[in-house]
Amino acid sequence: MNRQRLVVGISGASGFIYGVRLLQLLAELNIESHLIVSRAALLTMAHETDYKLADVTALASHYHRADDVAAGIASGSFRCLGMVVAPCSMRTLAEIATGTSSGLIGRAADVTLKERRTLVLMARETPLTLAHLRNMTAVTEMGGIIAPPVPAFYARPENLAQMVDHSLGRVLDLFGLDAGVATRWQEHQKPCGSELARECDGSVAITAK
Ligand SMILES: Cc1cc2nc3c(=O)[nH]c(=O)nc-3n(C[C@H](O)[C@H](O)[C@H](O)COP(=O)(O)O)c2cc1C
Repeated sequence: MNRQRLVVGISGASGFIYGVRLLQLLAELNIESHLIVSRAALLTMAHETDYKLADVTALASHYHRADDVAAGIASGSFRCLGMVVAPCSMRTLAEIATGTSSGLIGRAADVTLKERRTLVLMARETPLTLAHLRNMTAVTEMGGIIAPPVPAFYARPENLAQMVDHSLGRVLDLFGLDAGVATRWQEHQKPCGSELARECDGSVAITAK
């Protein structure tokens, strides 16, 4: 295998832009991306962005139809780093948690788990039902990683793009990839540890570093 490869599923949870931006970051990292887009994700794409499917598939190295369960990525023999579902709907989460795999996203995720590769689900819903929580537990028990796209405010994001990039940077960390987009704790402007504690109780003035 020459280039490292990652499978990217975009399902119909809110946050279509996470999938788009992930493809862009993978291209910058020279990682070969294999994209699957669910039918419901076409709706979120239309509601949330100005992208057309062709714009998104053009960002990926390879595009696979969501019903193409004969694609190479449907087999455990396809060598890759693993798979990210960004964002991951509660329906797709349930499918993965139960191993029912009705289409290529579920099948590729199932294969990722059975081959003990890294599977990251950017599960997006709120509030969560007991079914959602149980499905997240089941995926975690099978070795998958639930990484909801929740913003880190210590990163002081100035816009949505920075919030998206930070979440994706932390997801890429799980594959040992560094796109340089995650703000790292204690590597930015504010003081930390005991110094910050003294500033918070007013004993010294707060200073930016
Ligand atoms: C605009 C829009 C936003 C949605 N947001 C979410 C969401 O955040 N989380 C979720 O689980 N489902 C969400 N849904 C519902 C899913 O799209 C729906 O359950 C669909 O069946 C998921 O199919 P998929 O898992 O095959 O993509 C949303 C639907 C639309 C149209």
